Amino acid sequence: RTESAPPAPAAERAVEATQAFASYVALDLQTGTPAETDDLLRTLAAQIGRLCRGYVPPAVGISAPPSDSGTLGGVVPSDGLVVNIGYGASFFDHAHADRRPKGIKAMREFPDDRLQRDECDGDMLLEIRADQQDVVVHALRELTRVTRGGLAVRWRQDGVRPSPRPDGAPRNHFGFKDGTSNPTGADFDSLVWIDEPTQPWTRGGTFVVVRLIRMLTEFWDRVSISEQENMFGRVRTTGAPLDGDVETDVPQYAADPTGDVIPLTAHMRLANPRTPGTDRSRIFRRAYNYVGGMDSNGNLDLGLVFTCLQRDIAGQFEATQDRLEGEPLVDYIAPFGGGYFYLPPRDAGTGVSTTGG
Ligand code: HEM
Repeated sequence: RTESAPPAPAAERAVEATQAFASYVALDLQTGTPAETDDLLRTLAAQIGRLCRGYVPPAVGISAPPSDSGTLGGVVPSDGLVVNIGYGASFFDHAHADRRPKGIKAMREFPDDRLQRDECDGDMLLEIRADQQDVVVHALRELTRVTRGGLAVRWRQDGVRPSPRPDGAPRNHFGFKDGTSNPTGADFDSLVWIDEPTQPWTRGGTFVVVRLIRMLTEFWDRVSISEQENMFGRVRTTGAPLDGDVETDVPQYAADPTGDVIPLTAHMRLANPRTPGTDRSRIFRRAYNYVGGMDSNGNLDLGLVFTCLQRDIAGQFEATQDRLEGEPLVDYIAPFGGGYFYLPPRDAGTGVSTTGG
């Protein structure tokens, strides 16, 4: 295979089908000058392009270190690999201050959070997704290989999406289908892609919010099914709303104003009340389950790598998270990390070029 100029990391790729495995890696710049930062971004973009296209690792003499880790064999396949580079608010303190997108900022701490600051934010984010776990790990290794010295890992969380069962959407660690209700079509376009007239270079980009949320499964497993279902507003087996029959049924909150069927405090009802006033605060969600080890008390470290895309972090993700404050679910989850990142549009290269439009 030949290696031509790499395609720009594409924000659009963020919305391709959800791959089974993901790694979210936040990085801090170790570069000294904006020019060094640009060099690093070019190296990163070239390596991403190479990995996404697939390649045959060039031969090196036997006395030199190999040019590829070799973990995928003699031919590196593309295998559905998607890599997105995100830029955190602090990136723009290092370089391209004039290109700081409106609305990017450090992750806000919400009242029910237990944030560990060393697991939050970061100058940059690598979002690596593929259908095979070894492809994700290979990409991560080859990306850190070429950026060593220029980027330091701040936090990392890997996620896995369980294979869809015959009965529909994948389930999270609480046993509920996750990802059922998401904007599509024209709704998706107008909620996700940035369209900020004063910053034309951001048009068609988006913001990704990552939230690392531990799920306290030991507590959860002691809760009755009906209480669990009331917390979400959905039937655990089918994923249907409590007022419906099948997963795709749309809840009818107007017919249940006092929450007799779907409690007013149900997660999905607070998250998306389906009222005209809250319509523009919808988000596009993509969640992966994470599987850690055990904590010092012998409890499982399980949780969600919650991610969502939106054009306006304050007006969409934060507005949604504000509505969820104090929901019954907070006793069973512990958000501890993550960050807000800007994903530039496809044709903007690194998205921070000072010459690009
Ligand atoms: C819906 C679980 C965190 C926003 C749902 C559903 C489940 C769920 C089971 C219903 C099925 C579906 O439509 O996908 C969880 C769990 C969380 C979590 C276990 C934490 C561990 C969050 C966070 C947000 C959020 C942090 C945003 C701030 C939403 C939204 C919906 C939803 C917008 C769709 C509501 C609708 O349109 O009906 N979640 N979620 N969730 N969740 Fe979460």
